[in-house]
Amino acid sequence: MTDPYPVRMDIRPDVQAFFDPATNTISYIVKDPTSDACAIVDSVMDIDYAAGRITHDHADELIRQVRARGLRLEWIIETHVHADHLSAAPYIQQQLGGKIGIGANIQVVQETFGKVFNEGTEFQRDGSQFDRLFHDGDRYMVGNMPAFAIYTPGHTPACMVHVTGDAAFVGDTLFMPDGGSARADFPGGDPATLYDSIQKVLALPDEMRLFMCHDYGPDGREIAWETTVAEQKAHNIHVGGGKTRDDFVRFRTERDATLEMPRLIIPSLQVNMRAGEVPRDKDGRPMLKVPLNAL
Ligand SMILES: [Fe+2]
Repeated sequence: MTDPYPVRMDIRPDVQAFFDPATNTISYIVKDPTSDACAIVDSVMDIDYAAGRITHDHADELIRQVRARGLRLEWIIETHVHADHLSAAPYIQQQLGGKIGIGANIQVVQETFGKVFNEGTEFQRDGSQFDRLFHDGDRYMVGNMPAFAIYTPGHTPACMVHVTGDAAFVGDTLFMPDGGSARADFPGGDPATLYDSIQKVLALPDEMRLFMCHDYGPDGREIAWETTVAEQKAHNIHVGGGKTRDDFVRFRTERDATLEMPRLIIPSLQVNMRAGEVPRDKDGRPMLKVPLNAL
């Protein structure tokens, strides 16, 4: 079988990671080695949910770094509609420019959660809040550095893995080898589909660097976010070492039935399905809803 994706292991982007301890998310600045161009992957906006207060310390650090290094931000990539943290994409775009991109199946997510949050007709369900909607294999450039997206549904219907040079940003398809994989029980999620998507990632070259979106430091180990395809194939506790699709589906289904909803799912979905814009009430005030017994 020939590789359907335009992999370029000869290009080594400079990857700078930013861990957010409040949500265990890792954001990245990914720089083209031959120019000042960069992309930001999976930014975070801070929220004190109990107080209903939004702040931007994490995003400000990303912005400060881009400026301090004299970089030009071309892309703000969301690997998916996150359910556990809010995106800061528009806040960053306002200050640094760049295009906000996500998987084209954002439309499915908007349809689903447009209903859950009983959004009116002013909430567009066509993905038009984003600058670019990626399909499987779609290519784009970060400066001189080619990048492409791999469609990886299963955790959510809009998940994509973004690859540039020898670096892949896997979103929630995989965690570090000792963390396994993300849940597949959100609306539109499916464990068998997630298994198949993970196989697409594991079909990338063994030396491909893989960058996680989350890490929880299982069993007290230090937070980590970088591994390789070879390490995942050998050691991933959910899919490595020859575990079958059936093993995975059985395990994932049983495990997901025991998991609580993420603490920030209600604000996260309302903001992230709008590309990181905060929803507003009829008077234009920033306002979130809490649908009861709906999730
Ligand atoms: Fe996620």
